[in-house]
Amino acid sequence: RGPMQRLLVTGGAGFIGSAFVRHAVAQPDTHVTVLDKLTYAATRESIADLPADRVELVVGDVADPGAVDPLVAAADAVVHFAAESHNDNSLSDPSPFVTTNLVGTFTLLEAVRRHGTRYHHISTDEVYGDLELDDPERFTEHTAYRPSSPYSATKAGSDLLVRAWARSFGIPATISNCSNNYGPWQHVEKFIPRQITTLLDGGRAKVYGTGANVRDWIHVDDHSSAVWEILQRGRIGETYLIGADGEQDNLHVVRMLLSILGKGADDLEMVTDRAGHDLRYAIDPTKLRDELGWRPRFSDLEAGLRDTVEWYAAHEDWWRPAKAETEAAYAARGQ
Ligand code: NAD
Ligand code: DAU
Repeated sequence: RGPMQRLLVTGGAGFIGSAFVRHAVAQPDTHVTVLDKLTYAATRESIADLPADRVELVVGDVADPGAVDPLVAAADAVVHFAAESHNDNSLSDPSPFVTTNLVGTFTLLEAVRRHGTRYHHISTDEVYGDLELDDPERFTEHTAYRPSSPYSATKAGSDLLVRAWARSFGIPATISNCSNNYGPWQHVEKFIPRQITTLLDGGRAKVYGTGANVRDWIHVDDHSSAVWEILQRGRIGETYLIGADGEQDNLHVVRMLLSILGKGADDLEMVTDRAGHDLRYAIDPTKLRDELGWRPRFSDLEAGLRDTVEWYAAHEDWWRPAKAETEAAYAARGQ
């Protein structure tokens, strides 16, 4: 057996980062150091039951060079998930998005440059802006960047920093841009957990605008397996789009949740739309499938939503403390 692969996973106590940490620790000979600031979006519990000799949590900020440099120096590879991740929050206060998503990525890249460390950058399909509902094309690795929100603009900027550091300084980097994730441990501010927990509480689902907006849903464990493949076998300098052919409009997703939870088809209300709301995202994952042979395990969204509903019903102790505060912020905006 070769030596342990030492990964530094930023944002590893968040929704997707923690799923990736669980995936990585399930592989042989992998040690993970998580660097996470433990913002409102983090959950220690999501990685707490993993073996202590394989996973270590360091509480710190990716925008702090003093915290970042020694951790990058000690790692074989960095996987950068840490971000401010919620569009609605970026409309209320963009400031932490600029600091964490842009300055945080810059800080990691400078450390990676100093130490020559392998770097994988986690990004989003939102950097490409949106598509018309009837556009036959989907996003590819060649689609032009056209972000709409403060969140997606800072993610787009962070991707461009990575590309510039790769070209100008030769850092060994890859980038992935994934579509909308769902699954366990997702914060109740996000669409699917918000609807599930509101419906469990006896409320009505809250749909922005007309509900015609389309998202391309992927289970968080499929995102993790794709990132693992890119980290191990992706070509240095390349970008890979991650998606699982999961396009659905929001109204359809809400109707599936209503049916799973045994509610009436009209237990929903249309609320104030999001400013600048992207109409449709859709990923063409051909490159990832053809080059790396990756396939999603979850191809049935309704079955995945059923598991997710069960998970939230069983984990009320976890989401309950965040629910009232999150809903108060939405209510203040008429959402
Ligand atoms: P999340 O908000 O659930 O978790 C973010 C994590 O980053 C939290 O644990 C938080 O404490 C940590 N963090 C925030 N600021 C930090 C800082 N300055 N220093 C260190 N840690 C910090 O986010 P998520 O939904 O898990 O998203 C993770 C990554 O995946 C992000 O880069 C996001 O842009 C990207 N992404 C998300 C989706 C999605 O559907 N949620 C899709 C594609 C890409
Ligand atoms: O596409 C990837 C992106 O997906 C990630 O980069 C982001 O980090 C992640 O938050 C997500 O962004 P979205 O803005 O697509 O996700 P959100 O869960 O906020 O909303 C999904 C859709 O549902 C969107 O069209 C807005 C709508 N919505 C959202 C909420 C919270 C509603 O209709 N009602 C709601 O209550």
